[in-house]
Amino acid sequence: MSKSISDPSVDRLDALIARHCAMPGPLLPLLHAVQDEFGYVPGEAVPRIAEALNLSRAEVHGVISFYHWFRQHPPGKHIVRICRAEACQSMNGVATEEAARRLLGVDWHGTTADGQFTLEAVYCLGNCAAAPAAMIDDKLHGRVTPEKLEQLLAQHRVTQ
Ligand code: FES
Repeated sequence: MSKSISDPSVDRLDALIARHCAMPGPLLPLLHAVQDEFGYVPGEAVPRIAEALNLSRAEVHGVISFYHWFRQHPPGKHIVRICRAEACQSMNGVATEEAARRLLGVDWHGTTADGQFTLEAVYCLGNCAAAPAAMIDDKLHGRVTPEKLEQLLAQHRVTQ
């Protein structure tokens, strides 16, 4: 079940809805704006967005669940994105994927118990020449072996 957002957050949500509802094709831009604002799309946002855009709750929820980009729970402090697309897999990216899940102790879309990291799968980061690729927060990394990933995670744990 999605977490709650507080009253001031509802005001922020309503401001985003007001800003987007008159534009053509507003749903995806609005969902992106909501995730940018809150870090995820809170469950309470679904009925408010549905009503404002004259859609059913199921339609809005369907879009949120279809696109893995949208989170339905608050993320950890750091977002770890591992590329699972073909070029990275052909350069032993599967070992990096397995290392990410093992080192963090979570599966895809999971957040570590200490709230430090959320693990997400992505399908090409535009860094195929330096496969396997990963991104931690906004920083892109190439040739991410399991050992390099372990070092990167350790740096983020101690310095952030
Ligand atoms: S396939 Fe991984 S960065 Fe392009």
